[in-house]
Amino acid sequence: MTDLLDLLRRDAPRFRRIAVLTGAGMSAESGIPTFRGTGGFWRDYDPQWLFSPEALAEEPVLIWTFYDELRTRIATAAPNAGHVALAALAAHREVRIATQNIDGLHGRAGSTGVHELHGTLWTLRCPECGAVLRPDVVFYSEALPADAWHAAATAMTACDLVLVVGTSGVVYPAAALPALAVRSGAVVAEINPDATALTPQMHAVLRASAAEALPEIAALLAGP
Ligand code: OAD
Repeated sequence: MTDLLDLLRRDAPRFRRIAVLTGAGMSAESGIPTFRGTGGFWRDYDPQWLFSPEALAEEPVLIWTFYDELRTRIATAAPNAGHVALAALAAHREVRIATQNIDGLHGRAGSTGVHELHGTLWTLRCPECGAVLRPDVVFYSEALPADAWHAAATAMTACDLVLVVGTSGVVYPAAALPALAVRSGAVVAEINPDATALTPQMHAVLRASAAEALPEIAALLAGP
């Protein structure tokens, strides 16, 4: 497997259009827990249950307490060096970000053109008359917002390089995006301390954390 830094030292000038797929690992160094990491996401509840329509209907007070605590935790967190590096790279390359994260940290770091595949914690919606108000996030088994999905798929099929950062690659359809890019002729690379379900599809990897790796990657890509 090619080392991503070696590839960029050699070939960075040919990568003009960069698509990025991020997951929970992108925000780990901002202090936000990943879904499948060790330590329990929230008071040992299963994240799959916390983000389900059933939980909201059955335990609205508990689930709203969870959203409130998560919002407070994120509001008091800051984008990390990885978020900042991706935002700064946009001055040098076309950068489109498709994120599974609902924390809004890419936007707070200054990135524009962020496609939030699983919605956002920062707006609310009323599902139907009489139902409990809920955040604008995608619960398990729900469809993705069509606009974000189409924009993300378009970005993946019209780029030279995909950076897959901090996702275990097990939740579909988001996990199908790198394969779309491969079929369109892009180079796909994984930035993750560990191997994932997507590793076999990768042309290059960098086994490092997002906040360590992305500043160096962005510096190599920002050249002429
Ligand atoms: P996961 O928790 O499944 O995976 C996090 C990934 O980040 C793992 O592969 C870790 O190895 C990696 N990781 C941990 N720390 C890292 C760091 N500092 N830098 C880089 N990588 C790091 O999270 P997701 O793949 O994002 O969906 O999960 C996908 C979806 O599953 C979520 O969006 C959510 C969840 O169910 C919904 O809520 C609909």
